[in-house]
Amino acid sequence: MKIIHLSDTHIIDTKQKNLYGIDPSFRLRKALESIQKYHKDASMVVITGDLVDMPSKEAYAVFYDIVKDFSIPVYPIVGNHDKRELFLRYFPKLQFEGFVQYSLETEEFAFLFLDTLVADKPYGNLCQKRLTWLKNKLENYKDKKIYIFMHHHPLKSFLYEMDSDANLKNSDKFWDIIDRYDNILHITYGHLHRITQMQRKNVSLHSTKSTTFQVAFTPDETKEHLTNEEKPAYCIMFLKDTNLLLHHHEFLYEDEKYTGYC
Ligand SMILES: [Fe+2]
Ligand SMILES: [Fe+2]
Repeated sequence: MKIIHLSDTHIIDTKQKNLYGIDPSFRLRKALESIQKYHKDASMVVITGDLVDMPSKEAYAVFYDIVKDFSIPVYPIVGNHDKRELFLRYFPKLQFEGFVQYSLETEEFAFLFLDTLVADKPYGNLCQKRLTWLKNKLENYKDKKIYIFMHHHPLKSFLYEMDSDANLKNSDKFWDIIDRYDNILHITYGHLHRITQMQRKNVSLHSTKSTTFQVAFTPDETKEHLTNEEKPAYCIMFLKDTNLLLHHHEFLYEDEKYTGYC
C-alpha cells in the first residue's frame, strides 16, 4: 500500500501575493502534478495540517479548489494555522463533535487522524474528549496495524522554539494511551517543516518538508524561527505487512535527471 504524505501547505488567499516570496498554491499544484505522474497507484494523500497560512474563508476556498477533484482521495487534518469551523465548511464529513478527527480502515490497517489544534496558539493539546476518542478507536482496532497522523510532534525535536512554544503540551497523556497497545506501527506528524525521524519503543515517527517554506535547523538555543531556501518535498510511504519505507521527494526539480553513480 502506498500513501503520499504532504504537509504544511500554508495556502494564502488571492489578495496576498506570496509568502516569503513563495507562491504556496503553485507549489501544491506542482506536488499534485508530480503525484499524478508518478504515484497514481497511491491509496490516499494525507496533508498533515497548516493547510492555510492565515485562516480565512478565501484561503480555504483556494485550498479546496486545488485538492477537491484530485484523482486520489485527499485526507487533510488541521494544524495550529488552521481554523476548524472554516475547514469543516469544506470538509464536513471529517469531524467528530466539532473536532477534525476521523478514522479509515482496510482489512489490514487502521488510520487515525488526530486534531491537536488549540485555537490561536502555536502549541498543541489533546483534550479529554479527543483522548477518549483515540482510546476507543484503539480498543476497536486491536486486530489492525495502526498508523496515526497528527500535526504537532509528540516527542522533542531539538528545534528550540518548536519544543518550547509550539510542542504538544500534554504528550505524556498521549503516550500513556499509546503505550497500552503493541499494534501501533508509526506516527506521522507535520509542523516542523523539516524531514525528521524519531523512534520511541516500538513506534517509529517521521515528518516531511513543507510544500511551501522550510525551517532552518538551529541546534543552538536560539529563539529565532528561521525559514530558509531548502527545497520543498513530499513523502511517499510504502506499507507492507509491518514494514514501512519512506522516500522524501523534492518535486520541483524532478525533471533534472542525469546519469551518475552512488
Ligand atoms: Fe506549518
Ligand atoms: Fe504548525
